[in-house]
Amino acid sequence: MQTNYQIAQAIAANNQDEQSAIAGYYDLLDIITDPKDQDIIKEIISDEKNHSHLLTNLVLKYDSNIIEAED
Ligand SMILES: [Fe+2]
Repeated sequence: MQTNYQIAQAIAANNQDEQSAIAGYYDLLDIITDPKDQDIIKEIISDEKNHSHLLTNLVLKYDSNIIEAED
């Protein structure tokens, strides 16, 4: 059985994958010139950022022995 901290770390690793995907999509924006295709990539980046945000919230939920500072 994994501890909540271990679960948080596993989620954080997946969150890093989301960030790597975002970086890859930004690379695509540098080489794609069709504005409509760029809009598709931008939409995907926006979706991935949402995934990263959701995963960040899960990391904070599971790694909750010491809570996040509010200052
Ligand atoms: Fe994603």
